[in-house]
Amino acid sequence: MTLRLENKVALVTGGAQGLGAAMSRRFAEEGAIVFIADMQAGLGAQTVADITAKGGKAYFISLDVTKEESWIAARGEVEKNAPRFDVLVNNAGINIRESIEQMQAENFDKMLAVNVRGPFLGIKHFIPLLRKSGGGSIINMSSVCGLIGHKYTTEAYTVTKGAITLLTKTIAVRYAKDNIRCNSIHPSTVDTPLMQELFKTPERKQERFGEVPLGRLATALDVANAALFLASDEATFLNGVALPVDGGTTAD
Ligand SMILES: NC(=O)c1ccc[n+]([C@@H]2O[C@H](COP(=O)([O-])OP(=O)(O)OC[C@H]3O[C@@H](n4cnc5c(N)ncnc54)[C@H](O)[C@@H]3O)[C@@H](O)[C@H]2O)c1
Repeated sequence: MTLRLENKVALVTGGAQGLGAAMSRRFAEEGAIVFIADMQAGLGAQTVADITAKGGKAYFISLDVTKEESWIAARGEVEKNAPRFDVLVNNAGINIRESIEQMQAENFDKMLAVNVRGPFLGIKHFIPLLRKSGGGSIINMSSVCGLIGHKYTTEAYTVTKGAITLLTKTIAVRYAKDNIRCNSIHPSTVDTPLMQELFKTPERKQERFGEVPLGRLATALDVANAALFLASDEATFLNGVALPVDGGTTAD
């Protein structure tokens, strides 16, 4: 049986934990060599160990997505250790939960740096590798907040995720000539470490459950399976798509 990502090489930013780790695991199960690129070396090494214990192939790369020199070094690592490059997942993201009236400008800049400058630099430095391999797939992690004005989400987060929606479409259009596809994923609330703070009060948890027509939170596996599809050759005609993984939230 052919695995869905057999012979493909992927890099997942923020792959040490949460959705990034789930995508890295799923990709490796389907035959990919996965570079887990994150600032958390300890957790990253643990995720790599989990994958290799199950027979998968994964490596950790230390990466701060906000720093251009860090991306250049990461690209060098991939070039040195892998025969080709096929899939870039811009997943690392942060959310400082302050409303527009509370937020210090510095915090807004921090969010822009990780959530927007990060993917921008990643695409800039990995497009040449994808081109060299004859094309590939870029997957950008947005959110339902990149599609709608979500009433429970901060303005700053919405700004960053909306930027990713259109960065995705412009890359899709511009690099289609190189057979490089670029799509974004838009999850509703997923139960990951990013959300633990939010779930401390039952009211906040109920808000999130209540808005999903399918009546449950997304799982990391729901998101990982969507990413797997976009990464695979099953999606070779999907380009510039903003794919909600939200149980119908944005259809309501
Ligand atoms: N969890 C959700 O409900 C949800 C919903 C929609 C979208 N998202 C998006 O999905 C992505 C992953 O979210 P998650 O819930 O898994 O988050 P998480 O906090 O569990 O994991 C984020 C990872 O990104 C890494 N990271 C943060 N800053 C970095 C930097 N500068 N350089 C490199 N790595 C960095 C962290 O070390 C961590 O491993 C984010 O972009 C988030 O905005 C999450």
